[in-house]
Amino acid sequence: MRVLAVETSCDDTSVACVDDTMVRSNMVSSQVDLHAHFGGVVPELASRAHLTNVLPVTQVALEAAGWKLDDVQAVAATAGPGLIGAVLMGLTFGKTLAWSLDVPFVGVHHIEGHILANDIEEPMALPAVVLVVSGGHTETVYVPRAGVYEHVGRTRDDAAGETFDKTAKLLGLGYPGGPILEKLARSGRPEQFTLPRALWKRGDLDFSFSGLKTAVRLAVEGLGEVTQQDRCDVAWALQDVVVSTLVEKTRRAINAHRGSHDEELRGVYLAGGVAANGPLRDQFGRLAAQEGLTFRPPALAYCTDNAAMIGWAARTRLLAQTGDPLDLPAFARAPLASWRNAED
Ligand SMILES: Nc1ncnc2c1ncn2[C@@H]1O[C@H](COP(=O)(O)OP(=O)(O)OP(=O)(O)O)[C@@H](O)[C@H]1O
Ligand SMILES: [Mg+2]
Repeated sequence: MRVLAVETSCDDTSVACVDDTMVRSNMVSSQVDLHAHFGGVVPELASRAHLTNVLPVTQVALEAAGWKLDDVQAVAATAGPGLIGAVLMGLTFGKTLAWSLDVPFVGVHHIEGHILANDIEEPMALPAVVLVVSGGHTETVYVPRAGVYEHVGRTRDDAAGETFDKTAKLLGLGYPGGPILEKLARSGRPEQFTLPRALWKRGDLDFSFSGLKTAVRLAVEGLGEVTQQDRCDVAWALQDVVVSTLVEKTRRAINAHRGSHDEELRGVYLAGGVAANGPLRDQFGRLAAQEGLTFRPPALAYCTDNAAMIGWAARTRLLAQTGDPLDLPAFARAPLASWRNAED
């Protein structure tokens, strides 16, 4: 099954060619420079850039895979969640291509793509607990098998990635904030700032980052003039709180699962853009070893938004089920749900 996949849910235009066994090409045209000046993604600019980019990126992806358009046997596109104008661009393009080639179409939930990115290079050890941690999401999901998704804990307000991005903006740094703050944190001094860990004591499985964001703002405002060392120290403190919270909540999700399910857990995984964070990957490795679970840090190219993960999710679904109708709507928000009939 040769799948051409399109991902345009936010600020990257990505097209990939994926077959049954591997990713043949995965092209990403980044809009980071377009939005950097604004300290975040401007939705209307993103949609227009997708419109300009999607055809040339498709051509490059096909060439890199050594495919002709006639080789494509199915088309996939992200149906949501994301910026609705941006999602509509890729979804409409994908449906039109599927219709004109007369091949099946699959609309993929972006978060399913992030989760199944872990399955691309080696099959995932399932059942698993997956921490989805990105610019718009922070949640733990129990995955007994591909297509079945059970939420364990989720953020009650902001996502962890957004907390990195907003802090970087506050400190006058660029966008996206996560990689910049990770780099600065390497020169940060431990314990210069004390930041709160929300929902920590009550054995709670959920996350909350809005109070942390406010605490960072108050700490920075209290400094008056902000030096480069201050920026490094704030980055260290923020990364320390976020990473330790993510790891602890995942440990709790593992324990909650073990207390309530008969099926033996085999894996623990990281998904989404924040999964690129070095200290988080290291601490997940330790968590997995302590809990006796399989963990492989996802390849960096498959952490942030990319069409390979969308193609892989589509290919996985097409091996088990039929595709979607061409009137499938785009959506800005919707929780990840299991495939129809997948829980039977
Ligand atoms: N090394 C890193 N450390 C921490 N955060 C990182 C790192 N690299 C990227 N990020 C964060 O990852 C996020 C981008 O991830 P991703 O592209 O998956 O998010 P999104 O697609 O905007 O949101 P969603 O997937 O929830 O729709 C940004 O918030 C960015 O700051
Ligand atoms: Mg994403």
